[in-house]
Amino acid sequence: MSEPTLNGQVALVTGSTQGIGAGIAKEFAAHGARVVIHGLQESAGAEVAAAVRNAGSEALTILGDVRDEGFCRSLVRQTLNRFGRLDILVNNAASTERSNIEDDSLELWDRVLAINLRAPFILCQEAARNMKERRKGCIINIGSVNAYVGARNLLAYSTSKGGLMTFTRNLAFHLTQHRIRVNQINPGWVLTEGERHVQSVVEGKGEEWLTKAVQSRPFGRLLYPEDIAHAALFLAATELITGAVLDYDQVPVGAPRDV
Ligand SMILES: NC(=O)c1ccc[n+]([C@@H]2O[C@H](COP(=O)([O-])OP(=O)(O)OC[C@H]3O[C@@H](n4cnc5c(N)ncnc54)[C@H](O)[C@@H]3O)[C@@H](O)[C@H]2O)c1
Repeated sequence: MSEPTLNGQVALVTGSTQGIGAGIAKEFAAHGARVVIHGLQESAGAEVAAAVRNAGSEALTILGDVRDEGFCRSLVRQTLNRFGRLDILVNNAASTERSNIEDDSLELWDRVLAINLRAPFILCQEAARNMKERRKGCIINIGSVNAYVGARNLLAYSTSKGGLMTFTRNLAFHLTQHRIRVNQINPGWVLTEGERHVQSVVEGKGEEWLTKAVQSRPFGRLLYPEDIAHAALFLAATELITGAVLDYDQVPVGAPRDV
């Protein structure tokens, strides 16, 4: 099997200033893609851009909030202005805010859905215009294994990821006539900056809890951004897969998830 290649292609990866998105941006660059890095963290984004350039590729960094429709549309337009094409869109930016039916305010619900589901819709709509003209395109949505049922404190998040999965399959069905492929990766538990912050600070569990939880995993470690990046590269470089949902986890979907 030859190495997958993205030579000359242009990829826009939302939420790639850190975490899984940063891993995908670097993996794509290492395989020849020019990458638009997006997110909220300026200095972390600069580090990702430097890594992309060190890999011999081009990077464009655009910071901004995907809750803003105008910003989402301009993100795609700025990509096209700079590179003249958009081959791969990865909808990765997300809010993992905790909530349940008792304490979920409408503001929180709207915020999570706006970032995790509304923004991918706007970005896909904008990106598909260019992809349709060129009869070529690849969209990868980053979901979660929480898309199926989710945990008690992840009501809005799980709902948004379940919606994203249906969105992926529906869009794949419609866009295949234009040779645009749409797939989804549902990661399990990945050790990222955001995840470390949520577990240690927001949920107050601390580093010791995290260390024990990691040791209790079947393979003795959590997933890393690089694991998900490999899967994203496969989906981007392959030609004839669409509408697929890849559950990327060391615990089968449906098995008890308590750590
Ligand atoms: N880490 C995990 O365990 C895990 C598990 C399953 C799924 N996921 C999914 O993987 C993706 C990345 O997760 P991560 O752990 O790397 O997250 P992270 O918190 O480390 O990074 C999130 C990225 O999204 C960006 N972002 C968040 N809100 C934004 C907004 N309103 N506007 C613009 N950008 C915004 C941030 O700037 C950052 O670049 C998400 O879709 C998440 O739901 C993560």
